Amino acid sequence: MMEKQKLLFFSFSCFFLLPLLSGVQGGSSSSSTSSSSQHNTTHRGLYGFHPTKLFVFGDSYADTGNNRKSIADSWKVPYGITFPGKPTGRFSDGRVLTDYLARFLGLKSPIPYRWRKFAANRLRNGMNFAYGGTGVFDTLVLDPNMTTQIDFLEKLVNNDSVYTKWDLQSSLGLVTLSGNDYGAFLAKGGSTQDLPSFISAVVDQLAENLKRIQDIGVRKVAVTAMQPLGCLPRSTVLNSFQECNATENTAVTFHNLLLQQAASKLNINSKDSSAFVILDLYGSFISVLKTKGDFLGSVKFETPLKPCCMGTSSGHYCGSLDEKGAKMYAVCNNPEAAFFWDMVHPTQAGWRAVYLALKSALQKIN
Ligand SMILES: *[C@@H]1O[C@H](CO)[C@@H](O)[C@H](O)[C@H]1NC(C)=O
Ligand SMILES: *[C@@H]1O[C@H](CO)[C@@H](O)[C@H](O)[C@H]1NC(C)=O
Ligand SMILES: *[C@@H]1O[C@H](CO)[C@@H](O)[C@H](O)[C@H]1NC(C)=O
Ligand SMILES: *[C@@H]1O[C@H](CO)[C@@H](O)[C@H](O)[C@H]1NC(C)=O
Repeated sequence: MMEKQKLLFFSFSCFFLLPLLSGVQGGSSSSSTSSSSQHNTTHRGLYGFHPTKLFVFGDSYADTGNNRKSIADSWKVPYGITFPGKPTGRFSDGRVLTDYLARFLGLKSPIPYRWRKFAANRLRNGMNFAYGGTGVFDTLVLDPNMTTQIDFLEKLVNNDSVYTKWDLQSSLGLVTLSGNDYGAFLAKGGSTQDLPSFISAVVDQLAENLKRIQDIGVRKVAVTAMQPLGCLPRSTVLNSFQECNATENTAVTFHNLLLQQAASKLNINSKDSSAFVILDLYGSFISVLKTKGDFLGSVKFETPLKPCCMGTSSGHYCGSLDEKGAKMYAVCNNPEAAFFWDMVHPTQAGWRAVYLALKSALQKIN
């Protein structure tokens, strides 16, 4: 069962074949890494817009606790050891992208949808509908796909009156899509020949979802460009975490190119020409990995491709125990000095570095 789940969260190997996508270039450029005014609240808001709520859709890069305790690694020790000190369902040792974006907006991290009934006082920061392991299409997990996540918001607005249209008008959407559709496609026997057309189908569905979020009334939507899958430890383990797999990254730039085109089209058809904003996780990951997080000051990611938490023998992962309950994983001494936490997810320090790289890019446009 864990094997099956691994396939979802961690299945980026056997990815793309170069010949299919050769010639596809371009994609994301790297983000600025300026460190000035990192906490200047005067700069809060995107493009002069000051959202009062954040609504989040997507997967484990954004999930802050929707996934089920019974099956997800994110609810096991040592997930959450840095923050808040115990597992919270975040796929990291601490905070994830959602938490940093909320902080940037001056908001508390929005409550996970699953916990909405238990924390009514926190509804005013928005809500997080993201579920680890999911995609725009059905993956191998049974958790709600992005369409269903959006249905949840629609129902809260139209049927339950938890949020008003007015609330949505001062809200930002965050959408993450980090590759589970592709993992599931290949796991279900999809061929590499069909991959380019599947990438198009994924981005088309994503664009449809973005439009729907806007139609429900959310004022602006930030969507992540896909991170370099070929740099994830899941891929680089094959060369002892020395270098990224260029073939996989080339395929990702194809996804990102289509996404960029889709977002431009959506913006042209919107009253607000910056209604859809791309958060360039490709450029920011590459930039942080290249500089080893140098711009952060004291902390450096000395071996940036090597994850902090790993299984100690094959078939084991971060958080695995054997039948007797003995730990079958090892955690690095200082998670603050690691970019990756497990085989696919950044550490809190990694996310902070990515966020800072993204933030300076956003402020430059502002
Ligand atoms: C890169 O990824 C592709 C597709 O998954 C794989 O076929 C290839 O062997 C990988 N290359 C290296 C150098 O690991
Ligand atoms: C914050 O940014 C504003 C606008 O650029 C600038 O005028 C102000 O001096 C900055 N404040 C700090 C504390 O850096
Ligand atoms: C999302 O999930 C719902 C409910 O299981 C399903 O009916 C729908 O077809 C899925 N949407 C997509 C785009 O796969
Ligand atoms: C929401 O309300 C509409 C109109 O009253 C109804 O048709 C629909 O079934 C409701 N949806 C859900 C999910 O309850």
